[in-house]
Amino acid sequence: MAACPSCSNAAPDGSRFCPFCGGKLAALVKKPQDPLVGKLIDNKYMVLERIGTGAMGSIYRAEHQALAKQIALKVLHRHLLTEESQVKRFHREAKAASRLNHPNAIVMLDFGQTEDGLSYIAMEFLPGKDLCRVLFEEGRLPEDRMVRIASQILDALDEAHAAGVIHRDLKPENIMIEPLRSNPDFVKVLDFGIAKIRDYTGGENSSFKTATGMVFGTPEYMSPEQIRGEELDGRSDLYSLGVLMYQMASGELPFSGDSVLEVATAHLTQPPVPLVEKVPEITPGVAAIVASLMAKKRDDRPANAGEARAALVTAWETAARAAVERKLDSERVAEARGRAPVDVPVESRAEAASEARTHIVPAVIEGPQGPVARSPSDAPTRAPMMFRTVAGSAVSRGRNWKIALFLGLAVLAVGAIAAWAWMQHGQ
Ligand SMILES: Nc1ncnc2c1ncn2[C@@H]1O[C@H](COP(=O)(O)OP(=O)(O)OP(=O)(O)O)[C@@H](O)[C@H]1O
Ligand SMILES: [Mg+2]
Repeated sequence: MAACPSCSNAAPDGSRFCPFCGGKLAALVKKPQDPLVGKLIDNKYMVLERIGTGAMGSIYRAEHQALAKQIALKVLHRHLLTEESQVKRFHREAKAASRLNHPNAIVMLDFGQTEDGLSYIAMEFLPGKDLCRVLFEEGRLPEDRMVRIASQILDALDEAHAAGVIHRDLKPENIMIEPLRSNPDFVKVLDFGIAKIRDYTGGENSSFKTATGMVFGTPEYMSPEQIRGEELDGRSDLYSLGVLMYQMASGELPFSGDSVLEVATAHLTQPPVPLVEKVPEITPGVAAIVASLMAKKRDDRPANAGEARAALVTAWETAARAAVERKLDSERVAEARGRAPVDVPVESRAEAASEARTHIVPAVIEGPQGPVARSPSDAPTRAPMMFRTVAGSAVSRGRNWKIALFLGLAVLAVGAIAAWAWMQHGQ
C-alpha cells in the first residue's frame, strides 16, 4: 500500500490514481531515476540503465553512439572525486586493465573524465551473470563446473601476472559467467581494479608501486599478506582464488565472522575446515590444490598461476580417467564372469576399441582368483579380443565365393586363349 501525497489515504499497490481523492500516484511509486540514465557522457556514450553498484562506482549499460554498440561504463562515485588518490586509483584501474589481452579478462575500451568531472571506464558489456548471483541461485557448484571456472580464472591471472598486474580483489562479484555454445561457463575476470601496476624496471630488482599505507580488498577473500599490508605478488591472487574455489565447491566461505577483524584474524591464524569434510565426494587431488592455494605462507602455495592451473587440470583429468577405467573395468568383470562375448556391430566395436586406446583402458582377463586387471600397456592388444567377429566372418564368406568364381572364369579364359593359339600355330 502507498500513501496518497494529496489526501494521505492508503492506495493499493500498483494504482495510478488515488481511489479517495483521484490524485495521481504514479510519480509516487516510481523509483527515483539515476541522474546519469539518459545522459550523454563525454559526447560519446548514451547511458541506458544502471546495472550494478560497487565500492568505487556504479556500472551502467550504455551505447557507444558512433558505433551503435553496447558497452558497460564504470563511473566513479561522485563523492570519491574529491579525493585525488581515488581518482588516480580509478585511472590506474583503467591502465592496468588496458594492458591485458586475454579472452578470460575483460576488454577495456576507453577511459576518461566528463566535462563535469566524472571519471569513467568504458569496457565491453557482458550479458552473463556474475558468480555471486550464480552461487546465490545454485548454492554450490558441481566439481566439474568449479574446475572449469577456476582453470579459466587461472588462465587470466597467468596472463595478468606476466604483464605485471596483480588483481588484488578477486571475489565472486568480479567474475562474470557467460554461457556459450562452446563453453557453458565462459569466464571473464572483471576489475583488475585495485590492482597495482608492477613496473618492471629490470629483472629481479623490479619495483612495485603501492599506495603507501593503504590496504584495499574484500576481507573474506584477502590473503594473509594482504591483510598485513605487505608487498604483494601474484600468489596473493592464488590465495583469493583458493577461497573462491572453496566457496564454489562447498557453498560456504572458509572464514566468516561478524566483523572485519574476526574474518581477518581467521585468515591469519586459523586453518580452514578441510574441504573434504564439507564435500566428501570431492576429488582428493582437487581438494589438495585448493588447500595449497590457501596456504598461509605464500611459499607453500603453487609458484604461479600457470603451475596451479597445470596441477588442477592434471588432478581433474587423472580422476576423470580413473572413473572411466573403473566403469569399463566393472563392465568387463561382469562380462568375463558370466556372459558369453557379445556380438557387437562393426561400428560399435571400432568405437570401443578406439576408446580403449584413447583412455589407456586396462583389459581384464580371468586369473586364478577371478578377473585381473592387466597393465595399461596390454590394453591395445587385449581390447579387440573382447569381441568375437561373427558378423565379420559372414561378410568374408560372402566375399570368398565371388573370388573363387572370378578365378574359375579367369582359368577358363586363359585355357581358351591357349587352345586358340595352339590351333593357329598348327595351321
Ligand atoms: N562489463 C560489465 N558488463 C556487465 N555487467 C557488469 C560489468 N562490470 C560489472 N558488471 C556488474 O556490475 C556489478 C557491480 O560491479 P562493480 O565493479 O561496480 O562492483 P563490485 O565488483 O561489487 O565492487 P568493486 O567496486 O569493489 O569492484 C558486478 O557485480 C557485475 O554484476
Ligand atoms: Mg567489480
